[in-house]
Amino acid sequence: MLAIASDHGGFALKSEIIRHLEELGVEYRDYGTFTDESVDYPVYAEKAARAVVSGECDRGIVICGTGIGVSIAANKVRGIRCALCCDSYSAEMSRQHNNSNVLALGGRVTGPGLALKIVDVFLNTEFSGGRHARRVDLISDIETR
Ligand code: RB5
Repeated sequence: MLAIASDHGGFALKSEIIRHLEELGVEYRDYGTFTDESVDYPVYAEKAARAVVSGECDRGIVICGTGIGVSIAANKVRGIRCALCCDSYSAEMSRQHNNSNVLALGGRVTGPGLALKIVDVFLNTEFSGGRHARRVDLISDIETR
């Protein structure tokens, strides 16, 4: 199950991604926002992030105008490794090396064609483990201090 959420700046791209997920048959839960009326991005980023750490969803996608605000907010939730990606190579590496569990996108930065490609890579790339697992564990250690 995939969590997806956006503010107004990411609403149009969220709708495109949802159409794409439905075409692919990927199950998702939409944590809002549900219109393009102005809202506060941390509220929606936190909802998706909490759904991931609670186990209700396996991974998440958060979207705002730049992707920056939602990524900062999601990364405040313990256990979240949110990667803001503007290209598919970064999305691939965020899964292989960082075991990213949330993808952040900028609805005013990344066009829909590229964004859907990034989503596909995020969904279909596995974590490499090995030395990268040690580094991800070191990130988790930071959360305990
Ligand atoms: C909203 O105008 C905008 O600030 C928001 O979507 C996001 O880009 C914040 O980082």
